[in-house]
Formats: sequence, structure tokens, C-alpha cells
Amino acid sequence: MDPVSEQYETYPYPERDPADETRRLVTGSPSAPREIDHFLFRGARDWSQPFRVLCAGGGTGDGTIQIAQLLADAGCPAEITWLDPSRAARGIAEERARIRGLDIRFVTGPLEEAPALGQFDYIDCCGVLHHLETPQAGFDALAKALAPEGGMGLMVYAPYGRTGVYALQSAFGRLLGADAASEKPALAREVLKALPEANWFRHNRFVTDHQQSDAGLYDLLLHSRDVPFTVSALGAALEEAGLGLVSMLEPARYDPLRYLPEGEAFAARVKALAPLERMALAEELAGDIRLHVAYATHAERAGAVSAKVTPDAVPRLVGLPPKALAETVAKRGGITIDYAGVKHRVRLPPSAARLIALADGRPLGEIARAARLDWFAFAQAWAPVHAGLTGFNKLNYSRTFR
Ligand SMILES: C[S@@+](CC[C@H](N)C(=O)[O-])C[C@H]1O[C@@H](n2cnc3c(N)ncnc32)[C@H](O)[C@@H]1O
Repeated sequence: MDPVSEQYETYPYPERDPADETRRLVTGSPSAPREIDHFLFRGARDWSQPFRVLCAGGGTGDGTIQIAQLLADAGCPAEITWLDPSRAARGIAEERARIRGLDIRFVTGPLEEAPALGQFDYIDCCGVLHHLETPQAGFDALAKALAPEGGMGLMVYAPYGRTGVYALQSAFGRLLGADAASEKPALAREVLKALPEANWFRHNRFVTDHQQSDAGLYDLLLHSRDVPFTVSALGAALEEAGLGLVSMLEPARYDPLRYLPEGEAFAARVKALAPLERMALAEELAGDIRLHVAYATHAERAGAVSAKVTPDAVPRLVGLPPKALAETVAKRGGITIDYAGVKHRVRLPPSAARLIALADGRPLGEIARAARLDWFAFAQAWAPVHAGLTGFNKLNYSRTFR
């Protein structure tokens, strides 16, 4: 058996117990419907209309279950297709869907065959493309399966934030190449305990999957095919497939000015770079970008599909209750966002606090009226909130999803 297939039959990923569906829903990026609406449908899709979704390389079902459940809750007549070659992963994903009473079409097969399944309004492909023998064939197949007005949410691994991982994958390939998949995690754990102090993996606190489960350890360190993408390589693969990048997540982490000394000297140099080069520079400087989450669509539409500041846009503060956020902004002039100990300061003017407090599900036009501001004055006052919070994906716009 091909070693990648052997891995996912032995260790379906991520490790999930279907019984947990009765107590929690796993949510995240890409593919939260609120994000899909914000990045790909201008925050204004009519979700009473049918929506065809493909979860390509759906694994044990996290993305598939999230999207199926949240669309069902919103009353959207969605058709959800899970596609993956792993029978073991399918068994788990199917059971999760059964427990929740979700109607999902399951297809066992490779995503390279996706175009034969039809056209999709949204394609989720999370943690898969970097494991394909020919990743470009995967990008091309997904582009062919994407409806003309559709969009996709992708996640691929990134090299610099995974410093130390690839040397160990290679070392384990040499050392444990002849061992059965089921034997490898225990052997690998022994090696990890004895790693010399100077090994880079020991210094990389951003990768922790090996601490979660054997499936996590296998996916991180024992994978037989894992070719990470720099943001430049991701951009090139999208372009080759006729796709265009809508946004990286979180966009502010791809702004090199966050990682450079303040002042004109560097700002001017950054300004001279093309958008993808700026992001590449940010990735090279940041050090902690260990994966890329990206929203994309057909190239010619990429600049026109995400939500804008308009009177009917409905702001959704993600994980930040409006009143509590407003109090913090009034007191501290911003918030601090923490990614595994790396802190990013988001400056927000205290004068915007009263607008933030009103972001409780009403459209921006109503917030402006409640604040007694004309639209022009409101748009100016809202601009730093929009830039600061969308930059860290703490603000999306969606009429339907909160
Ligand atoms: C790391 S898991 C990700 C699962 C899921 N997307 C998630 O994020 O939870 C990778 C999945 O890709 C699947 N896979 C590997 N090669 C594939 C291919 N050619 N087409 C579709 N899926 C593939 C594996 O079987 C495995 O379930």
C-alpha cells in the first residue's frame, strides 16, 4: 500500500471519537460559514438558496461536520460532499454525521477526481494538498470543480514556522522506514525523549500536534509525503490553476511592517514590493507562520468577492462580546492578540468604543444612525476598527452568521 494511504488507514486524522458529537461542535478556519460569507460572498449571500459544498480530503470530518451543522442550523438547503480515499476516516466521519442527523454524501476517492462529482459553490481543502504526489494536479482539479461564482478555503503547511519538523521527518524516514505504521509512534516518542539539546525541533514551541495523539505525531513527524508551501509557492500554485488569492488568514500577520522597525526607511521599501512579495517578506521575518489558511476564487473575481464597509454590512465580532471589547478599547486604546505567546498589539481609538458597543448584530447603517453620525463621518470613525479587527480575523461581515 502507498505509505500515505497506509498512514491514514492506520491513523485517521485528526483523531476523533464520534461520541463527542453529543457535547461539542469542532469549529475553526477555514470553512466557518461566517468566514465563507465574509471572504467569498461579500457578507451578503442569501443562504436560503441552495449551496453545494465539497470537503476535499475531508478526513475524520471536522470541516465537513462544522459546515454541514452550521448551514443546517441556518436553514440553508446545502448539499455537502465528503471526498477522501481513507475508508477508516470515512467510517468516523459518517458516524459523526449519523449522530448529528446530518445528510452528507460520502465518496471514497482522491480529490484529483473531484471534477467528476460536479460543480461546487464552496470547496474546503484543509491539510491535504501538501501531501499529494503532484500538488499542482490537486489545485487544478479543485479549480475545475469550482462553480464560476464559487470560492474555496485552503490550508497548507508552511516551512519556516515548522523549523525542525522536516529534518525529523527525514530522520524518521531513514530510521523507521521498514517499520509498520502501527509501530512507529512509540519508537518515535523514544527518539524524541533523547533528542540532543541543539536539535531545532526542541526549540520550536509552535508545533505541538505530537503532544495531542499518535495520529498527530504521525501527521507531524512520520509523514512520508509532506511538502510545505511558502506563501510565494502557494500564490504560484493558485495562479497556475487559474485561481486568485482573496485573503490570507490572518491578513495582518502577512504585513511585513508588523515585523520591521517603524519609519519611512523601511515603509518605502515595503511599498515598492508587489502584494505577494510583501507577504513572502512577512513570512520570512515572522518565524511563527506554521501553516497558511487562504481563501481563493477564480482569478478574475478575486478582488471583488470579500465584504466591504457598506451601510447594509452586518459586523460580527469574532469571540469578542461587543460591550466587553468596547470597555477595553475605551480604557486601553486597543487589544492584544496572542498566538502561542507571540503578542500582536491592535491599536483602536478609544473614540471608537461607542461604535463597537453597538455592533450587536445590526447593520453598519443602523450603528451610524444610533451613534448620530452621517455615513461619511461614521465610515471614517469605523475605518480603524475595520482595519484592526479584520486584520486579525476578529471581525467578519455576515447578514446571516454570527
Ligand atoms: C491531515 S488530514 C486532513 C483531514 C481534514 N481535512 C481536516 O482538516 O481535519 C489529510 C487527509 O487527506 C487525505 N488524502 C490524502 N491523499 C488524498 C487525495 N489524493 N485526495 C483526497 N484526500 C487525500 C487523507 O486520507 C487524510 O484524510
